[in-house]
Amino acid sequence: MQIKNIGVVGAGIMGSGISQVAASAGYNVILNDIEDKFIDRGLTAIFHSLERMVKKDKITSAEAKTISGRITRSKKLEDLSDVDFVVEAVIEDKTLKQDIFRQLDNICHSEVILSSNTSSISITSLAAVTSRPEKVIGMHFINPVPVMKLIEVIKGLDTSSETVKSVFDLAEIMGKVPVMAEDFPGFVSNRVLQVMINEGIYCLYEGVGTRESIDDIMKMCANHPMGPLELADLIGLDTVLNILNILYEGYGDPKYRPCPLLKKYVEAGLLGRKTGRGFYEYAK
Ligand SMILES: NC(=O)c1ccc[n+]([C@@H]2O[C@H](COP(=O)([O-])OP(=O)(O)OC[C@H]3O[C@@H](n4cnc5c(N)ncnc54)[C@H](O)[C@@H]3O)[C@@H](O)[C@H]2O)c1
Repeated sequence: MQIKNIGVVGAGIMGSGISQVAASAGYNVILNDIEDKFIDRGLTAIFHSLERMVKKDKITSAEAKTISGRITRSKKLEDLSDVDFVVEAVIEDKTLKQDIFRQLDNICHSEVILSSNTSSISITSLAAVTSRPEKVIGMHFINPVPVMKLIEVIKGLDTSSETVKSVFDLAEIMGKVPVMAEDFPGFVSNRVLQVMINEGIYCLYEGVGTRESIDDIMKMCANHPMGPLELADLIGLDTVLNILNILYEGYGDPKYRPCPLLKKYVEAGLLGRKTGRGFYEYAK
């Protein structure tokens, strides 16, 4: 099936980045969220990102306009009835994602692939609520989507090899590098990454270092561009907590136990860059 129109569900950090990359690759995008203010926030993020690319001479202002012109806003999932491919990027909540997959299965044509950008939730469990498990797949883009090359591709128990091939082709058209991982909690990227981030937060909690010293040590020790606390703020502390809970429940192993300090920040609504304050403060 030739893909022309892509539906993206969730206009947050990831959904906006995915829409931008899809529109830049020439696809028409329907960007869906539950409230206008979330769609506005997503479209503003895309606008600023394209503006930065224009300033760096990566694209012209006419190209930036064409790219944003390919993105249509939507508040009803039914608007996705004619898309050729879906990427779901709502918050990391299994019940919510299953509910959306159930609805998408009724709304979208039977040949349409339903992909999820989940960081850690079982693809098999999302496929199980649909009548097309062979067409359900994980397409895990990395934040910030316009910059990061990797897409971790996760095959559920019944995902067909045709679906995997379509996703690999799409990833390459988007200028990304697809790499396969098996369907276990956190796949590869978040199983490894979140343990490091959580330990960084424990170091702060136990007074082993300050936020700056923890990040400086890890940047210079591991040659990472960001320290664990800066990275947690970039990802969103609610998302980090949700992923750690899924790893903790999925493996039943205490090594994934979320740090109480992380829980406290999330309870306070300090979610990182997206709310203006997490472990660091950000200008709004
Ligand atoms: N933040 C990251 O670094 C990152 C990286 C890779 C993958 N992910 C995954 O991507 C997904 C989205 O994460 P995010 O960081 O963009 O979160 P976010 O909080 O920035 O955005 C989530 C969006 O989903 C919307 N939403 C909630 N319920 C909805 C519904 N019923 N229908 C439509 N939209 C709905 C919210 O309004 C919000 O705009 C999660 O599964 C997360 O694990 C996140």
